[in-house]
Amino acid sequence: MILAIETSCDDSCAAVLTGTGEVLSSVVGSQVIHDLYGGVVPEIAARHHLELLLPVVERALSDANVELEDLERVAVTQGPGLVGALLVGIATAKGLAVGLDIPLRAVDHLHGHVAASYLAGVELEPPFLCLVASGGHTLIANIQEPGSDWSIVGTTIDDAAGEAFDKGARILGLGYPGGPLVEKEAEAGDPAAFDFPRAAGVPGVDFSFAGLKTSLLYAVRDLGEAEAEARRADLAASYQAAIVDQLVERVSRAVETTGVSVVAFGGGVAANSAARMGLTEAGINLVVPPTKYCTDNAAMIGRAAIELPDLPREAALALDAYSTADRSAR
Ligand SMILES: Nc1ncnc2c1ncn2[C@@H]1O[C@H](COP(=O)(O)OP(=O)(O)OP(=O)(O)O)[C@@H](O)[C@H]1O
Ligand SMILES: [Mg+2]
Repeated sequence: MILAIETSCDDSCAAVLTGTGEVLSSVVGSQVIHDLYGGVVPEIAARHHLELLLPVVERALSDANVELEDLERVAVTQGPGLVGALLVGIATAKGLAVGLDIPLRAVDHLHGHVAASYLAGVELEPPFLCLVASGGHTLIANIQEPGSDWSIVGTTIDDAAGEAFDKGARILGLGYPGGPLVEKEAEAGDPAAFDFPRAAGVPGVDFSFAGLKTSLLYAVRDLGEAEAEARRADLAASYQAAIVDQLVERVSRAVETTGVSVVAFGGGVAANSAARMGLTEAGINLVVPPTKYCTDNAAMIGRAAIELPDLPREAALALDAYSTADRSAR
């Protein structure tokens, strides 16, 4: 029985899993307050984790019908993410591990987004590729062996795909978080109405979304406020199509160059139906977790932890957060 804790950004998450990876509970306490600021405020996120995390842990235990004493280990996200937010999760996990005298495992958040695909309910064994497209990262990893390191096949040279959705939503006046709002607005729009760039100048398997965002900004400016509002659905649909096309093209190239045909899809953007559909229609052999395991959650952290070793007690007590993917892009 493993308790997993995830606090890398603005969601306070806890989950209980069995040692074989069955999810008994997964609780996500979202901090809606960040809507007011149009994005996550790190200091506020950390303070809210302090208030939310213990009730979220209690809820995860009661949903799983498990007592604290039944737990055999604790897993926690170590990074990358907001350091103040991560430290609340790490301190809580350390306290539980010491108090219950059970081992602690440290999980990389991006490995968690990859491990989410093991919760898709289908057989998934390495080797496989994983497109991780989230708010802070967009990369294609090649997972060669269970629990082993991965190699990065391609990554974004500027913004992340989720960030492109969020910034696009802001330009279109849709609010935050942008992904689901752009997706909804796009439903009534024509994806071919505007011809937004698809990073044609970026070769190979790398991504670029900065030019796309600027292009939307100019299109909205050139249309003028009233016309841009009238054509918001078309703008959203065309913008989303440009993101999806770029994902599809890079993943297709990655499959071609690596010869690995199975592709898992993780991170918040994997919740996007147009992206799932685009990849499937391109003939990609796609494995996507349920939507609730695409955006941040602790079940994916618990699932990733199953493949990892327990930390020796001293290392567990000394565990520190890291903010960037550099340490994780091994
Ligand atoms: N339906 C959707 N369509 C497109 N994008 C979406 C959708 N749902 C969520 N997203 C995007 O996913 C991102 C959030 O995903 P996630 O929680 O995995 O990212 P994060 O934890 O903020 O970043 P990271 O995992 O890189 O640290 C946001 O940018 C959000 O706009
Ligand atoms: Mg995430």
